[in-house]
Amino acid sequence: MTALIIDGKLVAAAIKESLKPRIASLKAKGVVPGLAAVLVGDDPASATYVGAKAKACEDLGLYSEVIRQPKELIEPALASIIHGLNANKKIHGILVQSPLPKHIDEEAMTLLIDPAKDVDGFHPFNVGMMLIGKPGLLPCTPHGIIKLLEHYRIDPDGKEVVVVGRSNIVGKPVAAMLMQKGKMANATVTVAHSRSKNLSEITRRADILIAAIGRPNTITGDMIKSGAVVIDVGVNRVENPTAKKGYSLVGDVDFAACAEKASFITPVPGGVGPMTIAMLMSNTVTAAEKSTEK
Ligand code: GUN
Repeated sequence: MTALIIDGKLVAAAIKESLKPRIASLKAKGVVPGLAAVLVGDDPASATYVGAKAKACEDLGLYSEVIRQPKELIEPALASIIHGLNANKKIHGILVQSPLPKHIDEEAMTLLIDPAKDVDGFHPFNVGMMLIGKPGLLPCTPHGIIKLLEHYRIDPDGKEVVVVGRSNIVGKPVAAMLMQKGKMANATVTVAHSRSKNLSEITRRADILIAAIGRPNTITGDMIKSGAVVIDVGVNRVENPTAKKGYSLVGDVDFAACAEKASFITPVPGGVGPMTIAMLMSNTVTAAEKSTEK
């Protein structure tokens, strides 16, 4: 079997297109959805992500602010920036780019964000709502993965899903969302991680395998069953002297080997990555809509 390559750019473009009438009707009411991204320090990958988010806002006609701060920024100063954004009527979505410098308590900062503006879906209020299956702002990458599956008519209902990785931003929430009772869910979910024994025995059970470990080439061809759907969430920089930037981006999956065996596979880049940004735009528009209901 040769896998069909899931086109995240195409699905992300369709999702962004579908937001346009909602943005237009907000603008007709005098509301321009606004997103603020706070970037602390000079991590080049974070700067790239924040730049891509600002560009997506610009393309859709959303208001966006990028607040750049030096890595020496102290926690009370970041807290004060967040409080200011919570009170700012032009801003409907707040995103504090992670990772933050080590001297700042990331979880404490997340708690300060107004849950109604938490477009990352990281605030414990939104995490809790997601876990009990109630409406709230959903985390962008897990929600983007489900939208990708939906677009390709891959229904997780009754399927064996194996998630490799247990991070708070991908592994745990995607597992919770897929095991939920409901549409594009109802899966039998297993979460494997760095302490799991016999990883390949677990991954070979998967009808849908979601790799979110953050280590290149962790999922090799012999670790998947024939016909599996393989979703690669990894974004790893590996040195490549022949590449213009000196590095290449690779996922967590050995793409060439798995593409020979899978039924569907996401590439890196161009798979899950563009979906994260599309869902961030979607959450910003949703947050702006909700602000008009108050
Ligand atoms: N760092 C890596 N991914 C993300 C994300 O989705 N949101 C934020 N705020 N930081 C990140």
